Amino acid sequence: MSATVSLQQLTDQLVALESEAAAEISTATTAAELEELRVGLLGKKGRLSGLLGAMGKLPGDERPLIGQRANVLKEQVQNLLGERLKAVKTAAMAERIARESLDVTAPCSYTPAGHRHPLISTIEEIVDIFSGLGYRVSEGPEIETDHYNFSALNIPEHHPARDMQDTFYLGEGRLLRTHTSPVQIRYLEQNPPPVRVVAPGRVYRRDPVDATHSPVFHQVEVLAIDEGLDFSHLRGTVTAFLQQFFGDLPVRFRASYFPFTEPSAEVDVQWRGRWLEVMGCGMVDPAVLTGMGLDPERWSGFAAGLGVERFCMVRHGIDDIRRLYTSDLRFLEQF
Ligand code: DAH
Repeated sequence: MSATVSLQQLTDQLVALESEAAAEISTATTAAELEELRVGLLGKKGRLSGLLGAMGKLPGDERPLIGQRANVLKEQVQNLLGERLKAVKTAAMAERIARESLDVTAPCSYTPAGHRHPLISTIEEIVDIFSGLGYRVSEGPEIETDHYNFSALNIPEHHPARDMQDTFYLGEGRLLRTHTSPVQIRYLEQNPPPVRVVAPGRVYRRDPVDATHSPVFHQVEVLAIDEGLDFSHLRGTVTAFLQQFFGDLPVRFRASYFPFTEPSAEVDVQWRGRWLEVMGCGMVDPAVLTGMGLDPERWSGFAAGLGVERFCMVRHGIDDIRRLYTSDLRFLEQF
């Protein structure tokens, strides 16, 4: 009974499958659904294979007829799947375009770009100029010892800078460095001459806050040690640096005193018609060199130190140092 299947029956079933498939395909809405239909219809265990399994029960001369009909169905179903897939994709794209369309009349959300703080860009500019002159950059710790901050720099026991009034002492011989000059010593300990180094950093002093003083501020230290360096090298370097920073202005050196340099000088630039004191410098005192185990008959050099806040304020016409620390955007946005 069940063994008999006629050519007509099989053909009818193929026709029925074809119209069912067409209906299912036409209502599929996603690529995944279509793939599922394809596997269910044409796959190895799909419905077409199921029908063709029965083909073996037909007389041999009828089988090719069914085979041909099955091929027609297969091609038809594949075409329908392909066309529907195209339609589904086009619809998805149209939907996406509609969803992502840009409303050029919508109010904008503006995120202002940040930029460097004027103090930081001043430090970078100073360091860049010295890098251009062949100087390396080094930094030392902000918590220093009495040795590096004072003794090794030839600052005597009773010097006013050592006073409790001026220096933040932390106990156990430690203190907050009052200048960047200790980096001279630290760098020389690690790097035998010849050296050329520039050392930016934060320094601390017990100064009450006013328009020109802050207990925390920034300095840049400069040190060059080599054979045969003399005051003309110091003068040339400092002048070249200042003229690069401030522009081609008159620069003058005045005799001064620092314990770690001899001779020492203070440097002024003529800024908008007025002489402004901008940095200290001098030839490294032989006592400092000897303390480092360097023979002052062979090695000589110069050092300089400057206050970054002052450079920044002069350059930008800032009248009060506190503006640099209060993070007022109305102020900062001008730079
Ligand atoms: N350390 C000095 C200060 O804080 C500045 C200074 C002066 C540094 C002369 C130097 C120098 O290297 O040669 O006032």
